[in-house]
Amino acid sequence: MLATPVALVTGGSRGIGRGICTHLARRGYALAINYAGNESAARETQRLLGAQVESLLCQGDVGESADRARLVDTVLARWDRIDLLVNNAGITSPGRRDILDATEENWDRVLAVNLKGPFFLSQRVAQTMLERLPRLTAPCLINISSLSAYALSCNRGDYCISKAGMSMMTHLFAARLAEHGIRVYEVRPGIIDTDMTAGGREQYTPLLQQGLAPLRRWGTPEDVGQAVASLATGALPYSTGEVINIDGGYHLRRFP
Ligand SMILES: NC(=O)c1ccc[n+]([C@@H]2O[C@H](COP(=O)([O-])OP(=O)(O)OC[C@H]3O[C@@H](n4cnc5c(N)ncnc54)[C@H](OP(=O)(O)O)[C@@H]3O)[C@@H](O)[C@H]2O)c1
Repeated sequence: MLATPVALVTGGSRGIGRGICTHLARRGYALAINYAGNESAARETQRLLGAQVESLLCQGDVGESADRARLVDTVLARWDRIDLLVNNAGITSPGRRDILDATEENWDRVLAVNLKGPFFLSQRVAQTMLERLPRLTAPCLINISSLSAYALSCNRGDYCISKAGMSMMTHLFAARLAEHGIRVYEVRPGIIDTDMTAGGREQYTPLLQQGLAPLRRWGTPEDVGQAVASLATGALPYSTGEVINIDGGYHLRRFP
C-alpha cells in the first residue's frame, strides 16, 4: 500500500477536474486522473502535477458500470487504497432542449453520467474504504454538483434534476458513512470558466460584471480545486453532508 493518500478524481482531464487535481497534489495526494476520451488533456493535467507527484491516467466512462469497476480495480491494483473520491465528471444537457421537447435518450445519458455513475462509484469506493479503514487518511467523498441543483433552467431539465439528485445522494452517503468517520460533501460551483461554459462566455460576462454573482467575476477551476482540497484535508473536521457554495455569492437572495 502506498504511504501517501490517494485521490480518484473523475473528469480530471480538463476544467474543474484539472483544478481539483492540481490542488490535491499540492496537499500531498497521489492522483488517479479519470477521463472519458481526451487522453491528451489528461496527459496535460498529469504534466502540470509535476514528475514528483505519483499519478495514474484512467480512461473510463463513469456512466458505464463495467468502466466504473475497471476504474476502481485499476487504482487499487496500483496503490491498494482510495482515500478520496471526487465525483466531478459531468456533462451538460445535449442540445439544451426545452423540457417540452426533451428526449428520453438525452435524459438517460445525462442521468447516467451525472447521477447514476457517481452514486454507484461512491458505493464501490465506500466499500473499498470500509475494508481498509484503519490504514486510510481522512477518508472522504466529495460531489461536484452545481447551482443547477436549485436554480431552474427549463432548457436543461435533465441536468438540473441530475444535480438536485446529487444533493440528496450526498446526504444519504453522509448519513450512512458517518459512523465510520467517512465525511461526505457537496461542492456547488457557480459559473466557472471551462469548456463547458465556453459557449456562454458572451452571455455571462456582462451579467457577472453587473452582479449576477456578487463577487462580479467568473469562477475558476482553481477556486473549486482549493475548496475541494481544503475539505478533503480536514478544514471542517466536525462536519459532514454540508453544501459548500463556490459561486461568488450567486446563491444570496436580495429583496429590493
Ligand atoms: N463550468 C461550470 O460553470 C460548472 C458549474 C457548476 C457545476 N459544474 C460541474 O463541474 C463538473 C466539471 O465541469 P467542467 O466545467 O470542468 O466540465 P468540462 O470542462 O466539460 O470537463 C468535463 C470533464 O468531465 C469528463 N467527462 C465527461 N463525461 C465523462 C464520462 N462519461 N466519464 C468520465 N469522464 C467524463 C471530461 O473528460 P474528457 O476530457 O475525456 O472529455 C472532462 O474531464 C461537472 O460535473 C459540471 O456539471 C460546472
